[in-house]
Amino acid sequence: MTDETRDAVPGALFDRLWPEPGEVTADELAATYLEPGVRSNMVTSIDGSLTMDGRAGGLSDPVDQAHLHLARSAADVLLVGAGTLRAEGYGPVRTDETGVARRRAAGQSDHPRLAAVSASLDLDESSPMFRDAPERPLVLTVTGAPRERVAALEEVAEVVLLPPGEGGGVSGRAAVDALRERGHARILTEGGPTLLGALVAEDALDEMLVSYSPVVAGGTGRRMVLGAAEAVREAELVSLLRSDSLLVARYRLT
Ligand SMILES: NC(=O)c1ccc[n+]([C@@H]2O[C@H](COP(=O)([O-])OP(=O)(O)OC[C@H]3O[C@@H](n4cnc5c(N)ncnc54)[C@H](OP(=O)(O)O)[C@@H]3O)[C@@H](O)[C@H]2O)c1
Repeated sequence: MTDETRDAVPGALFDRLWPEPGEVTADELAATYLEPGVRSNMVTSIDGSLTMDGRAGGLSDPVDQAHLHLARSAADVLLVGAGTLRAEGYGPVRTDETGVARRRAAGQSDHPRLAAVSASLDLDESSPMFRDAPERPLVLTVTGAPRERVAALEEVAEVVLLPPGEGGGVSGRAAVDALRERGHARILTEGGPTLLGALVAEDALDEMLVSYSPVVAGGTGRRMVLGAAEAVREAELVSLLRSDSLLVARYRLT
């Protein structure tokens, strides 16, 4: 969906089913996502797959895309794993005119910053996601990352070397701390599952926005959190939104 079509989505984007029933406008939603914290936003099929044909896009509809755009446009930084950047073919992270106006009113930069997470640094520094980014992207990697790749990416991004966590990748807590040290208090992560695993493993994720796409996907698609040791994290439902058969649940991890 283009920025123009996002703008064309009418004011009342969702029906709120919880806590109190009513309509929710884009402005109201954008304001709630200004709350600081580390928040994930992922879309899943009813049967728990994150992908159709290897990508999240196949599960998303225009209202889900509008919601994604709202959540993004309230964020200071978008934290994304390299696997997701490669699979989904990210372009430069920028918001539309309405988003820029909201951000200026909230005292934010015009656009969210991208923070890519990678150990291998197998990221193309000539891609538009870096070259055309309106805000200088960050690349979060491990100490010991290939030096020539660090140098190449430093041409287009701020590269931050961080200590490895349990699995040998960037520690989820260290990644969040590095973003906060740079003044980024509203951290939105779009995954993927390996990155979410690193965040959950170190108790560095505060909230999960889950879009339930009304499809049964089958296949072998991934689930939302991978790699963290099996341990129950309880969650509290903050809100439940509905548009036709699409549900968007906001959970706070307790
Ligand atoms: N439905 C949805 O909302 C949604 C959202 C996101 C992704 N997805 C899907 O999920 C699939 C990708 O899954 P994935 O688990 O591979 O995603 P991912 O977490 O984005 O990618 C894994 C890769 O990202 C880097 N990475 C992640 N965490 C890291 C850490 N702590 N330290 C260092 N590097 C880290 C590594 O890159 P290097 O190999 O470069 O070291 C790793 O190989 C795709 O099919 C994508 O479409 C779906």
